[in-house]
Amino acid sequence: MVEAKNLQKVYKVGELEQEVIKDFSLCIGQGEFISLVGPSGSGKSTVLNMLGCLDTPTKGKISIGDTEVTGLSRSKRADFRGANIGFIFQSFNLIPVLSVYENVEYPLIMILNLPQEERKERVMKLLRAVGMEEHKDKTPDKISGGQMQRVAIARALVTNPKIVFADEPTANLDTKTAHKIIELMKAIQKEFRTTFVFATHDEKIVSNVDRIITLVDGLIVSDERIEK
Ligand SMILES: Nc1ncnc2c1ncn2[C@@H]1O[C@H](COP(=O)(O)OP(=O)(O)O)[C@@H](O)[C@H]1O
Ligand SMILES: [Mg+2]
Repeated sequence: MVEAKNLQKVYKVGELEQEVIKDFSLCIGQGEFISLVGPSGSGKSTVLNMLGCLDTPTKGKISIGDTEVTGLSRSKRADFRGANIGFIFQSFNLIPVLSVYENVEYPLIMILNLPQEERKERVMKLLRAVGMEEHKDKTPDKISGGQMQRVAIARALVTNPKIVFADEPTANLDTKTAHKIIELMKAIQKEFRTTFVFATHDEKIVSNVDRIITLVDGLIVSDERIEK
């Protein structure tokens, strides 16, 4: 499903070059529930952004399904991301002027260009799944952090992506809400065989995944499958 080969990422800040990811190779199968763990600054977000087609590696190749995404132009890569990948950010990244409903509908208009009836059906299905149906007309400033994250999850899933990347999705949530959100993502993984890759050290997530990849200073130091 995802194959990353010999990824390297160098950030340039002024004159300074920093090799953040050194030599990162990984295969991810359909339906896996994976956590990428490691200390702060070890490169988790950088890896997620590259695999999620938000950023490109300095060197190396990434294939998702049959597509080598590192060979695509910027705009083709954005189209590919929209059609195939869901991304959940720690800070939710909802559009403040749009309602909950419109935030979830947004990718269906911008990326998939679906007709209105089909959009409505998909949006309402996801809003029901995350328990946000009754808040659909509110703007993000009128709902709690946990509710914003539910909306962000609905938005990430509304395009039926094959793979979802989530960068510390529970970092801004209280324990109870975090548990609910994790259960929700597990249910979605089971039902649709959606692959989830989390960047997190949150034990609430880590104890639920079936594979843990540990990153230290831009290198994988362990890749462990959890038997359940
Ligand atoms: N856009 C950027 N420009 C320059 N340096 C960056 C950028 N993003 C991250 N870094 C640096 O790369 C390293 C890894 O960061 P990151 O991938 O965010 O790690 P993690 O998510 O594990 O905390 C850190 O040293 C960070 O300061
Ligand atoms: Mg990070």
